[in-house]
Amino acid sequence: MNTRKKILAGNWKMNLTLNEGVNLVNHLIEDEQKNPVEGEIVILPAFPFLQPVSNLTMQTGIRTGAQNVSEHEKGAFTGEVSAQMLKDCGAAYVIVGHSERRSIFHESDQMLSEKIAISIKHDLIPIFCVGEQKNERTSDRHFEVVSGQLYAVLNAFGKDDILKVVIAYEPVWAIGTGLNASPEQAGEMHAFIRRWLSENFGNETANQIPLLYGGSCKPSNAADLFSLENIDGGLIGGASLDANSFIALKEILFSKKIVA
Ligand code: PGA
Repeated sequence: MNTRKKILAGNWKMNLTLNEGVNLVNHLIEDEQKNPVEGEIVILPAFPFLQPVSNLTMQTGIRTGAQNVSEHEKGAFTGEVSAQMLKDCGAAYVIVGHSERRSIFHESDQMLSEKIAISIKHDLIPIFCVGEQKNERTSDRHFEVVSGQLYAVLNAFGKDDILKVVIAYEPVWAIGTGLNASPEQAGEMHAFIRRWLSENFGNETANQIPLLYGGSCKPSNAADLFSLENIDGGLIGGASLDANSFIALKEILFSKKIVA
């Protein structure tokens, strides 16, 4: 029986003013009080808004997280934010290895592994992102690319640690483009990731790890994606910036029947 936690996470990226963010969160809180769910609703604002958003959501079922974390514990790293600092600001989750961090900020596999390790150490749940570029899919190398990313970063961890990680499959060509992966493409990649986890950490462990889909996921396509057996939720960019669409995604995800 599938007992995996369902997760809907909103990655605000570098968007929204504080006022807009507070308004949006207040709408989500209002909805959550009327329609609580068994699972996680996570908001991932920019660093400066983490504390204010955490203050608002503290007594609610909504959790917060950050979009990045330093791989270092503390010290002379101007501009960086540590895992302990995120924890102090109320974060429960942190995105690690988003494609924008990999490509724009040149984050290496080694760095991502260290970021996951330090997140786990500080009791933050890493949402580790993988996904192929457009040319890697058109040249039919998507499985090879994703298994390479999984191996390079997760190889350093044992079963106990891997159980504290959430994985998000985000095809780079689908992020912010309006072009989501088709249910067939997402379904086969999620099944592939589950199989990879099973081969590397055993079936029982693999079956407990939540796998999220991200990349132009919105209310109009979410039902087909969220109904797939190996998709346990979504990492949502654009559609998380609007209360109505994020709430609609929540309704779609949490009406999904648990597949045995
Ligand atoms: P998108 O972003 O939903 O706007 O495509 C997803 C993400 O980058 O996490």
